[in-house]
Amino acid sequence: MHSFCKTFFRGAALAGLVAGLLASAGTASAATSGKATVQQAPAAKAQGEYAGQDTCLGCHEDKAAAVKDGPHARAFNPNSPAATAGCESCHGAGKAHAEAGGDKSLIKGISKLPVNQSSELCTSCHDRKKHALWAGSQHDQRNVGCTSCHSVHAAKGAPQLKAKSEPELCASCHKAIVNKQSRFNHMPVRESKLGCSSCHNVHGSTNMKLLKAGTTVDESCTSCHSEKRGPYLWEHAPVADACVTCHDPHGSNNDRMLVAKAPFLCQRCHVTARHPPTVYDSYALKNSSAANRISGRSCLVCHQLIHGSNSPNGKAFLR
Ligand code: HEC
Ligand code: HEC
Ligand code: HEC
Ligand code: HEC
Ligand code: HEC
Ligand code: HEC
Ligand code: HEC
Ligand code: HEC
Ligand code: HEC
Ligand code: HEC
Repeated sequence: MHSFCKTFFRGAALAGLVAGLLASAGTASAATSGKATVQQAPAAKAQGEYAGQDTCLGCHEDKAAAVKDGPHARAFNPNSPAATAGCESCHGAGKAHAEAGGDKSLIKGISKLPVNQSSELCTSCHDRKKHALWAGSQHDQRNVGCTSCHSVHAAKGAPQLKAKSEPELCASCHKAIVNKQSRFNHMPVRESKLGCSSCHNVHGSTNMKLLKAGTTVDESCTSCHSEKRGPYLWEHAPVADACVTCHDPHGSNNDRMLVAKAPFLCQRCHVTARHPPTVYDSYALKNSSAANRISGRSCLVCHQLIHGSNSPNGKAFLR
């Protein structure tokens, strides 16, 4: 009995251990790559010797800002270049380069690296939280790297961005989308109340289209517009499906950023409804006293609770 107990217990403990190891495999690898940050200096040392950043600055005074000012100079953070190897945290050990009077072949020139390699350099430190899903994300896949958007030495806007503002940065590649900001109705991005990054995480996400929150478009929208989340007693199918069926999140010339004006908005789907196929030729509405109320808010004059209703009589979203 006693020995059975022991064996059983050992077996169980072993199984537990294996399961634990399997479960923590993800976290464990994250933790080791985190550690690599701290150990990066010794690792780089194997390829050469360090000169120290004062030596570098002797010839590259113009690059001083990167290690004396700004985020990479925050020496209180033990992972920062300032607290590790200074210039050489990023450019690699450079004693040979310095002693050769600046031989280019003996130092890592980052803007000449292939994009995936320069991104790897950055993710050797920035691999957590917001950046955990970078590898294989839409930008990574299309050879847009960290240094396509950030500059360590010549940033124009925070955080280390290559352009003064976020929309300006995005516009260099997504002009059509950023231009929608000048439409009559838009999210307050132009007014700086929201940024593109209020909805997107350009560094990778679990949602489609690099959306920051949730796993569906709706979850992304309702992370702010929680009152539209429901559940409703009477759900309107397209609302439960995707808000972008009716709204353009980047802006539109219709009220409420709608992709089309009512009745056309509704008639993209409701063409064969019992009542009215169109507001203009319906037996129900034509010449009735209701007909002249249809201009303007159109179908919405009556179908007010278009996102869903909780009234027992709300099947048609009238109340
Ligand atoms: C004796 C002066 C001197 C010292 C010290 C020095 N460099 Fe240089 N470095 C140069 C010169 C000169 C060039 C430009 C070579 C050229 O354009 O042909 C250069 C180029 C570079 C480049 C660009 C390489 C490329 O491929 O374009 C980097 C990066 C660099 N240095 C980093 C460093 C770092 C980091 C240190 C300190 C470890 C350092 N340098 C120390 C003189 C120096
Ligand atoms: C040796 C580690 C290390 C490397 C390599 C590194 N960083 Fe950093 N980075 C840091 C640390 C640490 C901070 C400061 C975080 C803090 O606020 O404490 C920082 C800050 C930043 C910030 C600003 C964050 C803010 O809140 O303002 C940006 C942007 C950034 N890094 C981009 C890059 C890019 C792009 C690269 C690659 C070219 C890179 N980093 C390489 C360690 C590193
Ligand atoms: C956080 C990483 C990081 C640190 C720290 C850093 N650099 Fe750079 N360096 C870069 C990146 C990335 C580029 C490419 C241009 C840019 O992003 O501004 C670059 C570009 C350069 C260049 C121009 C050649 C090229 O590759 O474009 C020189 C020279 C240079 N750095 C020298 C230095 C010196 C000297 C220091 C220390 C005073 C230093 N760097 C610190 C990341 C870094
Ligand atoms: C498509 C442009 C783009 C690319 C590519 C990009 N970034 Fe960013 N990054 C931004 C913008 C915009 C912000 C500010 C909004 C935000 O925090 O999401 C930012 C913020 C950051 C911050 C500070 C924010 C924080 O809270 O940590 C760091 C650090 C950073 N990026 C590092 C990186 C690294 C490392 C890479 C490459 C693996 C990278 N970025 C690739 C645009 C980009
Ligand atoms: C250097 C060019 C470049 C910059 C700058 C850039 N992007 Fe991109 N972006 C791309 C490319 C290329 C793709 C991949 C397009 C594709 O797959 O159709 C992409 C994809 C995306 C996607 C995903 C599209 C999809 O189909 O999944 C989003 C969202 C996005 N970018 C947002 C942004 C935001 C927000 C910014 C500004 C902070 C930005 N991008 C800056 C080049 C860029
Ligand atoms: C209110 C939230 C929100 C804001 C703010 C926002 N987006 Fe989007 N974005 C979305 C949604 C939702 C989608 C997916 C749309 C779809 O599937 O029809 C998207 C899609 C995209 C795409 C992919 C387009 C495509 O056709 O596949 C790009 C690129 C993009 N956004 C860039 C930006 C840029 C640049 C900004 C800032 C000017 C921005 N977004 C601001 C919510 C937003
Ligand atoms: C990061 C928070 C945030 C997210 C995510 C978000 N919104 Fe918004 N939304 C806002 C803010 C802020 C306003 C402006 C409210 C105001 O001005 O009173 C707004 C306004 C609106 C408006 C009203 C515009 C008008 O003219 O009155 C609509 C419609 C809208 N959002 C739809 C969406 C849709 C659809 C999504 C998902 C694609 C979404 N929102 C995601 C914050 C957000
Ligand atoms: C079937 C089309 C349709 C769908 C799908 C839809 N909406 Fe709307 N939405 C509208 C219409 C129409 C209006 C204007 C209502 C009015 O003027 O009375 C509106 C207005 C809004 C407004 C501003 C006015 C208000 O009621 O607060 C917000 C915010 C909004 N929608 C968010 C969302 C979100 C979030 C989703 C997804 C969960 C969504 N919508 C899905 C048609 C739709
Ligand atoms: C993308 C397609 C689509 C759009 C756009 C759309 N609807 Fe719907 N609507 C549906 C579907 C699907 C149903 C569920 C039909 C069913 O259950 O038989 C529905 C149900 C309804 C119902 C309840 C019908 C019933 O018998 O339960 C009303 C009322 C309604 N929609 C009005 C509107 C109005 C008004 C608009 C415009 C603001 C609109 N819809 C836009 C697809 C759409
Ligand atoms: C004057 C008020 C009014 C206007 C305007 C109006 N409706 Fe209705 N709608 C109603 C009423 C009342 C019902 C019936 C509800 C019931 O049967 O319980 C209804 C029912 C519906 C239904 C569900 C019944 C069915 O056909 O199966 C749909 C779908 C619908 N309307 C779509 C629309 C669309 C699309 C528009 C704009 C082109 C519109 N409505 C304009 C009052 C209106």
